[in-house]
Amino acid sequence: MRVFVADHPLITHKLTVLRNAQTPQPTFRLLIEELMTLLAYEATREVRVEPHEIETPVAPTTGVRLSHPLPLIVPILRAGLGMLEGMVKLVPTAEVGFLGMVRDEETLEPTTYAERLPDDLSGRQCFVLDPMLATGGSLAAAIKFLFDRGADDVTAICVLGTPEGVEVLEKAAEGRKVTLVLGALDEGLNEHAYIVPGLGDAGDRLYGTIDH
Ligand code: PRP
Ligand code: URA
Repeated sequence: MRVFVADHPLITHKLTVLRNAQTPQPTFRLLIEELMTLLAYEATREVRVEPHEIETPVAPTTGVRLSHPLPLIVPILRAGLGMLEGMVKLVPTAEVGFLGMVRDEETLEPTTYAERLPDDLSGRQCFVLDPMLATGGSLAAAIKFLFDRGADDVTAICVLGTPEGVEVLEKAAEGRKVTLVLGALDEGLNEHAYIVPGLGDAGDRLYGTIDH
């Protein structure tokens, strides 16, 4: 598995505001979207393209366009939904599938409660969006789900990750083509399996607290 951790002062600056407990919800949402667009630039570096002939006003030339099957973007509900607009801004013709997952806060086991994806993902490049890679359980389950459907190339994009989560994803990748792009690699997990220093509960900060 290849791992990229963003190293850019603008990303670190936006992350600093995002982490701040005083940052209001509308700003938090905007920043998640903006950070996604910045991370998408790195995450799509190897998006598959094919030659495409065009005529400029001056001369014919060969450029590129996205190859078929088109890339599939998969936000993990809820919190991954906050990243979707930031990703489709950069890849507007990509298709979008959805996975709903929730982590049991006692056992830390993820459960999949919703799924709307093509049945056959053969030959698809998939881009999974989830702001938080904590224990890695949710993202590992999402990646397994996509490989079981036939995907052969998965890129996971997270705003924050932990060394523990990266290790769990390494095992889940099992030699398959997985790339992980992180806004930052944090210190680790606290006793409640929250990322430290982290930003708190991403879903709650985006969409408000729900009864668990
Ligand atoms: C959060 C987050 C990840 C998961 C990370 O979602 O968005 O999906 O926890 O934790 P893990 O790496 O330990 O599995 P949550 O389950 O809170 O659901 P939500 O997005 O609906 O708030
Ligand atoms: N889920 C979150 O939203 N935040 C964490 O720190 C860990 C899991």
